[in-house]
Amino acid sequence: MASSMTRRVLAAVGRGADRGRAPDAVQILGALPVPVVLLDAQNRFRFANHAAEQFLGISAAGLSQLALGDLIPADNPLFLLIEQVRHGEATVSDHDLTLESPRLYKQGITVQGSPLPEDPEGGSVLLVMQDASAARALDRQLAFRGAARSVTGMAAILAHEVKNPLSGIRGAAQLLEASVSAQDQELTVLIRDEADRIRALVDRMEIFGEKPITRGAVNIHRVLEHVRRLAQTGFAAHIRFAEIYDPSLPAVWGNRDQLVQVVLNLVKNAAEALTQAGHGNPEITLSTGFQHGMRLAIPGSSARVDLPLVVSVRDNGPGIPDDIRPHLFEPFVSSKAQGSGLGLALVAKIMGDHGGLIEVDSRPGRTEFRLHLPVLNETDSDRGE
Ligand SMILES: Nc1ncnc2c1ncn2[C@@H]1O[C@H](COP(=O)(O)OP(=O)(O)O)[C@@H](O)[C@H]1O
Ligand SMILES: [Mg+2]
Repeated sequence: MASSMTRRVLAAVGRGADRGRAPDAVQILGALPVPVVLLDAQNRFRFANHAAEQFLGISAAGLSQLALGDLIPADNPLFLLIEQVRHGEATVSDHDLTLESPRLYKQGITVQGSPLPEDPEGGSVLLVMQDASAARALDRQLAFRGAARSVTGMAAILAHEVKNPLSGIRGAAQLLEASVSAQDQELTVLIRDEADRIRALVDRMEIFGEKPITRGAVNIHRVLEHVRRLAQTGFAAHIRFAEIYDPSLPAVWGNRDQLVQVVLNLVKNAAEALTQAGHGNPEITLSTGFQHGMRLAIPGSSARVDLPLVVSVRDNGPGIPDDIRPHLFEPFVSSKAQGSGLGLALVAKIMGDHGGLIEVDSRPGRTEFRLHLPVLNETDSDRGE
């Protein structure tokens, strides 16, 4: 059966753009948003789906006249990968490939090559290509969930294992204070004050604890306006703000105070980056919009949630330092002398609690944090979360 399907795929490829009578397999491949091509034993294009046409910038009909060697030079490591697939008869993948020719320039490409099972012609190789920057973006999005979880665990440990003995220490110091000499009282006061300082630190960590959030309809533009006003009358008085809002957006299904905290943390980081760099024309842009097609699994269930509402906080500052980037959402990661490194960890935690996503794009002169949030549906109000 597989072989007859393969033959039909190949036959359809031979027919070129005859989409109307194409069998299901071709239609499915065509709809796939990932570039897929099938090469024959001579590396000629036997099939290219729609995403591959766009990716390579050549129509399927055009590709059917070409071989891979017409697009990229023969010393490209991609040819090695293809040979490995043919010899090993197994899937091989390579990362960070560069596809470069007069008609094509793609960098940071991940390619997976697989042999075609029961290939009637022999030597065919299926290539699936992916822009690695897209893959990395997804990686980062999912990584923050792990980071948020580890903070939640730590908050619980701190609360139990540190706070209780701490109050014992503090109480004991207070008792001693009544019976020791004035000179020694200095020491008991020191114990008390330091115990209080640790307690305050632990209290700050407790916002990461596992508490169910109360949700309602939140007007995201009011949240953004509130943060902008706070910023402009305080820490960001010297920074210009631009706002690009889509007034037709529905309400967010979320917790207003926590969303304020998220946006405030992002705006604060942007302002701090701009101030630190001594930017001559500092600007923060807040924008909102609608984006279809962003979905995410709800942890621990098979349900998917749509995240059509996008909030972006952008600055024209120096960009996120390279060494920070891989750990951006982890707690205690900071490039600032006085930084707590908890801001983005908290942002990640709150976004996770909302079932949302956060994306980052950063280069010198342009750093953008994008929040993808769920919107209010009629059914949400009776969901009783
Ligand atoms: N908009 C930004 N531009 C440049 N760097 C940023 C930006 N936002 C965050 N960062 C980097 O991420 C680090 C972590 O941020 P955060 O978790 O809020 O902790 P903190 O602000 O206390 O350092 C910052 O120290 C900074 O290096
Ligand atoms: Mg911060």
